[in-house]
Amino acid sequence: MNTNQFGEKGWTPDRIGNLNGKTYVITGTTSGTGFEGAKILLSKGAKVVMLNRNPKKSQETITALKQELGNNIEVSSIKMDLAEQASVKKAAQEVLKTAPQIDALICNAAIAQVPKQTLTVDGFESQLGVNHYGNFLLQALIYPRIEASKGRIVVVGSMGYNLGIKTIQFDDMNWDKNYSPNAVYSQSKLAQIMCVYELQERLNEAGKSDVKAYACHPGASRTSLIKTSGSLMTRFVWQLMKLSPFVQSAEKGAYPQLMCATEPNLDQSGFYGPTGRNNWTGPVGKHKLEPHAKDKAVAKRLWNLSEKETGVKWNI
Ligand SMILES: NC(=O)c1ccc[n+]([C@@H]2O[C@H](COP(=O)([O-])OP(=O)(O)OC[C@H]3O[C@@H](n4cnc5c(N)ncnc54)[C@H](OP(=O)(O)O)[C@@H]3O)[C@@H](O)[C@H]2O)c1
Repeated sequence: MNTNQFGEKGWTPDRIGNLNGKTYVITGTTSGTGFEGAKILLSKGAKVVMLNRNPKKSQETITALKQELGNNIEVSSIKMDLAEQASVKKAAQEVLKTAPQIDALICNAAIAQVPKQTLTVDGFESQLGVNHYGNFLLQALIYPRIEASKGRIVVVGSMGYNLGIKTIQFDDMNWDKNYSPNAVYSQSKLAQIMCVYELQERLNEAGKSDVKAYACHPGASRTSLIKTSGSLMTRFVWQLMKLSPFVQSAEKGAYPQLMCATEPNLDQSGFYGPTGRNNWTGPVGKHKLEPHAKDKAVAKRLWNLSEKETGVKWNI
């Protein structure tokens, strides 16, 4: 029986009211769910600050958005490469300088299925470095503005959190001994969502109930994710998958992050995404989360390690 709190169709952007005066900062809007999410927020009157690694693509994105929504939309972009901690720090400074208010930071950007172990300039395995450490650092640096705005942090995870080793490989974070594209991607997405629930705990302990943190995922969506970083074979298989009804549009894939960024009174303890088969497609809402994603001992250790590796201390 469907117990979706938003009814049979689940959450849709029809629930978003007028967003005039609200500001959303989103990572990775040059394609996929980030592009669709930014478009919907702008169409509702919000101001959107996009953080992208490729300025040319960013400019093309702005042009495409203006073509569709008109020249009056309030959209801007800041260069940020999540694979370089220095770039994240620079972008965060720019955000703090230019955005007096942040209603939500949506950590959407990621890479997936990198075929061979690759290290970032900071020496992190690339999927963990981009997906987890990059977004973690960004959140910590922008947090003071989010707190002052009574805003939200929204992290886009993946059902991959429930694949692979289902925990964090602390004794070999770079997977020097057993690199596997999928297991490492899964760990990076698990790390991302574990830190959301740990953040909630820390906010709670500090009595900061005005700031919210949410974890969600887009199910299986037709985007550029595998095309960007996957091997030839993974790309081929995913191209075929994308033609099947088991995969939904990138627009629908954006609904969970939009819900977490805008829906009032949303329960933070939930995990949000499509509620149909395997959580790949279907009405968007809250669904089951396996307990390993909320393992407190692992989450605390991961948080402390992430602060150490990124050299940032959250000021909660
Ligand atoms: N599609 C799915 O079925 C699926 C399933 C589970 C989870 N997800 C999650 O959904 C989110 C959105 O992905 P998507 O499917 O929409 O993929 P996508 O179309 O490939 O979009 C990813 C975005 O992230 C950006 N990005 C990649 N590396 C970056 C870096 N180092 N610094 C800054 N930006 C970077 C990309 O920029 P460029 O254009 O420069 O590459 C692009 O804008 C990700 O968190 C992904 O893990 C997707």
